Amino acid sequence: MNGVPRLTRGDILRWLKENDRVRLAQLWEWADAVRHEFVGDEVHLRGLIEFSNYCSRQCAYCGLNARNADVARYRMSADEILACAHQAVGFGYGTVVLQSGEDYGITREWLGDVVRRIKAETPLAVTLSVGERTEGDLAYWKDCGADRYLLRFETSNRALYDRIHPPRAGIYSDRPALLRYLRSIGYEIGSGVMIGIPGQTYEDLADDIELFRELDLDMIGVGPFLPHEKTPLGKEEEQLWAPLGEQVPNSELMTYKVVALTRLVCPYANIPSTTALATVNTKNGRELGLKRGANIVMPNVTPPQYREKYEIYPAKACIRETADMCHQCMKHRIQSIGRQIGKGRGDSPNRTIRRD
Ligand code: 5AD
Ligand code: FES
Repeated sequence: MNGVPRLTRGDILRWLKENDRVRLAQLWEWADAVRHEFVGDEVHLRGLIEFSNYCSRQCAYCGLNARNADVARYRMSADEILACAHQAVGFGYGTVVLQSGEDYGITREWLGDVVRRIKAETPLAVTLSVGERTEGDLAYWKDCGADRYLLRFETSNRALYDRIHPPRAGIYSDRPALLRYLRSIGYEIGSGVMIGIPGQTYEDLADDIELFRELDLDMIGVGPFLPHEKTPLGKEEEQLWAPLGEQVPNSELMTYKVVALTRLVCPYANIPSTTALATVNTKNGRELGLKRGANIVMPNVTPPQYREKYEIYPAKACIRETADMCHQCMKHRIQSIGRQIGKGRGDSPNRTIRRD
């Protein structure tokens, strides 16, 4: 195959609404072939460290939102984070992802020191996923050696975005602008959306996929919206649903469609088969994601006593396992579908192309 024909907005919309099994099988096959051609058969592993569950924001979908008083809050120490990073090296991972709520108890200097220590003591690439911080913080962490930044824009529909993300006083939230800034200062950038947010239409989802292309993302993670009862979006009967026939379902099938279309639209992107997908299909959601466009997995390396407190949505996969269990589980799943475990850091193929 030479290249990928450019999908129009109409094509994207038609595929999102497609329900014929034979046609969908063709979509999966096409996405898998493009994945094979553009990013190969290696599956890169990113060790996920959920290092703080404090959050100052009130995102209407997230179990860690500041209003949820039932969450026992924690912050891992620098030494605990470093121990996880060394464990990730032991497993052969090329990257650690440091993820937290939007926690202003995590200072610029403290996180900068953690990044510096990981870079000094290990060969790991470091990805940060700590929310909407100031340009000063983001630039400082880049100087400390951080390589990549993840910030999902969640939905490209501005009205829907505003409805589910109460702003911080006086600060306008513009995640696409922040992503462009992150890229301009040298980060590899990752983003993504939730699928099936109450009020999200097929048109919105097609816009999301077009925005992936426009932002020229290095990494794109998507997963189904999973209602959490301790959040404003947790009660079905209280939601503002889109008109009949327009509301996107938060289904496993819709997630595969978005993964596959994302691969076709952004052939060089690193696309994870996400934990949310593994949660809606514990049996083989990860494998199906990897067979329908994805090329990355993010095994959790957070110590068990903390990970059970990082419940962004209910019944989250891997919440009771250890790092070692997740490692064995992922290895097995990757090998069971005839793929190889990636070697090295798994840097963005997109970047290499862009530099040429
Ligand atoms: N259902 C699905 N995904 C969620 N996330 C947060 N809360 C939920 C939920 N209830 C996702 C968001 C966020 C990522 C870390 O987890 O997309 O960016
Ligand atoms: Fe954690 Fe399978 S990846 S148990």
